[in-house]
Amino acid sequence: MLPVSGTIARGFIPYVYPNTVEAYEQAGLYLKNPIAFSEAVEKDGEVLYGKFCVHCHGTTGAGDGKVGAKLPGPPPAYNGALKNLPEGKIFHTITYGKGSMGPHQSLLTQEERWKLVYYVQKLQGPKTVASDSTKAAAPADSTKKH
Ligand code: HEC
Repeated sequence: MLPVSGTIARGFIPYVYPNTVEAYEQAGLYLKNPIAFSEAVEKDGEVLYGKFCVHCHGTTGAGDGKVGAKLPGPPPAYNGALKNLPEGKIFHTITYGKGSMGPHQSLLTQEERWKLVYYVQKLQGPKTVASDSTKAAAPADSTKKH
């Protein structure tokens, strides 16, 4: 059930980034996970992933879930094209959806979405660039040349 218009449900924190391309980029730069990491939190994320995401994204996040593999544009692999996607963009996309992925803001609390971010990051594996995936990664040795 949605809260009465103009009111806010108890415990609900409004998400300030609107559903726009600009806000998606901003979220990628500035939005950080407010929940402290722990293995228990990541485990909660894994359980949520099994309920809400695995049928499209697949067990390892390769985009080969039963439903995902049949989509005209299957989800990109977390550990591939999405490897360096920053946490803020992961949260933003879980919230609003993207392409054929639907929004999850009415299905999952913010806390649940942030727990999922930790689990998606586990599936991404170690990042190969520090921050924003939309900026081309400089070769690792580019600063070492004189
Ligand atoms: C109906 C299938 C479907 C479901 C369910 C789904 N996704 Fe997706 N997801 C996609 C597709 C397709 C894309 C690629 C969207 C695009 O870039 O156009 C995507 C993209 C993403 C991305 C990359 C976003 C970006 O900014 O490029 C993340 C992260 C993600 N999904 C996480 C999740 C999580 C976590 C869940 C579970 C809460 C989930 N998805 C549920 C299909 C799905």
